[in-house]
Amino acid sequence: MRNRSLIAAALVLVVAAFVGHGLLTADEFTKADVERWDKEYMAVVAKGRALWTSPELGTNGVACAQCHPNAANTHPETYPKFQQQLGRVITLGEMINWCIQQPLEGKPLALDDPRMIAMQAYVAHERRGVALAPNKH
Ligand code: HEC
Repeated sequence: MRNRSLIAAALVLVVAAFVGHGLLTADEFTKADVERWDKEYMAVVAKGRALWTSPELGTNGVACAQCHPNAANTHPETYPKFQQQLGRVITLGEMINWCIQQPLEGKPLALDDPRMIAMQAYVAHERRGVALAPNKH
């Protein structure tokens, strides 16, 4: 009997620890944090827009914005998806690299290159609020 109540007490403590931890971690950032994160995010979006409208990622003077003004027809919400050009399921970053290599005749970026992250942030920002629709064609 005594052992049972000890086990029950231990269980209550474990559960309480989990709940307490959840309460503590749920609110670990302040309004000032969010403002700082927003500022950093918008700076990356601006960097992406600058790259989008400039020919610097290619070799032939062409910019993404010439065919995709304001990120038109990029459909980031449809990724990952099967892309015919590559014959497999790819991410948005790989499709961005496809357009860097084809219409811009440039070198592909590493997927974690800050310029690639900036371009993805710009595209996602332009399409914010659109429902996810992976593999939509
Ligand atoms: C000369 C015109 C042209 C330029 C310049 C161009 N693209 Fe594209 N892009 C296309 C075409 C055409 C497609 C459609 C390919 C397909 O899905 O069949 C496309 C597709 C895309 C898609 C996928 C759209 C979808 O619906 O899945 C993305 C993302 C994209 N381009 C990004 C870029 C980026 C980033 C740049 C600049 C590095 C760029 N494009 C420059 C013509 C262009």
